[in-house]
Amino acid sequence: MEIRLNDRVVLVTGGSSGIGEAICRCLAEAGATVALHFRSRREHAEELVASFGRESEAFQADFSEPRNATALFDRVIERYGVVDVLVNNAGIFVDSPVERESDLWLDDWNRTLAVNLTAAGMLCRSAINHFRERSGGRIIHIASRAAFRGETEEYLAYAASKGGLVSLSRSIARSFGHHNITSFVIAPGFVRTPMTADYLARNEKRIIEGELALRELTSPTDIAPLVAFISGGMMDHATGCTIDINAGSYMR
Ligand SMILES: NC(=O)c1ccc[n+]([C@@H]2O[C@H](COP(=O)([O-])OP(=O)(O)OC[C@H]3O[C@@H](n4cnc5c(N)ncnc54)[C@H](OP(=O)(O)O)[C@@H]3O)[C@@H](O)[C@H]2O)c1
Repeated sequence: MEIRLNDRVVLVTGGSSGIGEAICRCLAEAGATVALHFRSRREHAEELVASFGRESEAFQADFSEPRNATALFDRVIERYGVVDVLVNNAGIFVDSPVERESDLWLDDWNRTLAVNLTAAGMLCRSAINHFRERSGGRIIHIASRAAFRGETEEYLAYAASKGGLVSLSRSIARSFGHHNITSFVIAPGFVRTPMTADYLARNEKRIIEGELALRELTSPTDIAPLVAFISGGMMDHATGCTIDINAGSYMR
């Protein structure tokens, strides 16, 4: 079986690093035109889309102001006229223990929710309105094991934001399936990316020996092919589902 995404336009948020970058590479290999969103890594994002060829382009937006997500979607539509698949991948992992002073903790909470959930919600709103005018579309959210297992106490906002994404995805699947709009969650455990580099530098051995069933940490390339598979329509009848990719560290 071959996954062909020719003529499909896929918007991937956070495509300039880690999991998002691997997703963009995989989609481009399968023939998609990738609208690669980035926040700060312009040069790298532009190098990536240049290597993809076709009409792939990089688009900047900072989701700490979630209205920027709507403007991003509009710019992608202006450029291509269509989006076939939205991948909500951009995210932040802010260390904010409960001992933090209340206003600082609230700032961390608000920033985390803005980037990880509210911007994703705004993008879903735009995508659903666009998909309803067409013959449908697909949305894929990169949530986290934290949504189900819970996270450690410094990451309460992160876990809450990812739980929100799961509910958002299920509600979209339930409400808009009859418009041929499908929605899926991928819930990774620890993945080797810039986001986890510092934490892994201190804890990798403990995680591999104490948490994982497999013997090695998950890589972004262990996640990306599933996004291509879903984008190609092979999983439409599983709409609303969550797929865990966590090296056997948490089975629910
Ligand atoms: N790594 C893990 O262990 C793990 C586990 C479970 C779930 N996840 C989830 O997977 C997704 C990707 O994570 P990753 O590990 O690949 O992280 P990463 O390497 O740190 O990449 C994060 C991406 O999000 C973008 N981003 C950061 N802040 C942003 C903002 N304010 N506005 C818009 N975009 C912003 C970054 O853009 P720039 O680099 O251009 O600034 C980058 O492209 C996240 O949603 C994360 O929560 C990761």
